[in-house]
Amino acid sequence: MSQDREALAALAFQVESGADEAMDKEPVNRYRAVKEPEAPALGAPPVVAEPARRTPAPAPPPDHRPALLATGQATDSAQSKAASCMNLAELRDLVTEFDGCALRQTATNTVFADGNPEARVMIVGEAPGREEDLRGLPFVGESGRLMDRMLAAIGLDRETVYISNILPWRPPGNRKPTTQEITICLPFIERHIELSKAEILVFAGGTAASALLRRSEGITRLRGRWYKYQAGARELAALPAFHPAYLLRQPGLKREAWADFLKLKERLISLG
Ligand code: URA
Repeated sequence: MSQDREALAALAFQVESGADEAMDKEPVNRYRAVKEPEAPALGAPPVVAEPARRTPAPAPPPDHRPALLATGQATDSAQSKAASCMNLAELRDLVTEFDGCALRQTATNTVFADGNPEARVMIVGEAPGREEDLRGLPFVGESGRLMDRMLAAIGLDRETVYISNILPWRPPGNRKPTTQEITICLPFIERHIELSKAEILVFAGGTAASALLRRSEGITRLRGRWYKYQAGARELAALPAFHPAYLLRQPGLKREAWADFLKLKERLISLG
């Protein structure tokens, strides 16, 4: 393998492992050989080591990031601030400014929503991935393209659905969000649903479904059935479905996913 191909393969491996962000502006060669002290010549008088003079470590760069609140405090703050938002524009501003969740510090953009906020159907996924983080829009990567094709198959598109996630910031390396991160951000998506015009919710994947329905079962058990979802004074119908990223890894499940999307279509028709 040429050196270039080797370097590319090593880079691809790192990206696949989730190391896809630069940590610093300048590269650091951590493999650089450290110069060993030379051995004294044979017969030379023993060298008495001087007491090591410690050079003080350089001061770390100033950290301008705001200190994070404890989970309980951050959740309470998210809850009361979200409740004070009277429309989606206020909620978007609030979420963009909220500094109680560490994910915001590593994300490029806050990903709030896409599609039509007046739509009858709202799809809620898990969290932005790499492309979503870069573009500031949900479901615009590979799984989003599959979702668009599935929606198109039942006559829907981003003009007729509204799309968001339970987390507005990408977890680094696309790792699973922690319970703490979900707990802190939940008041935002709950208020988001309340302020939307949606009558039907589709929870894409187990993380969204179990967080919003407060259920502990996995998506395989939850999917394909209608649940009642209380959004303030309104009762909405919620349908958990497989996440499109999961379908990309398990294409054999597309049959079930298709059955779920047909249920969504029937429900929309029955609403008139
Ligand atoms: N997966 C999600 O759950 N949401 C996105 O926006 C993209 C991928």
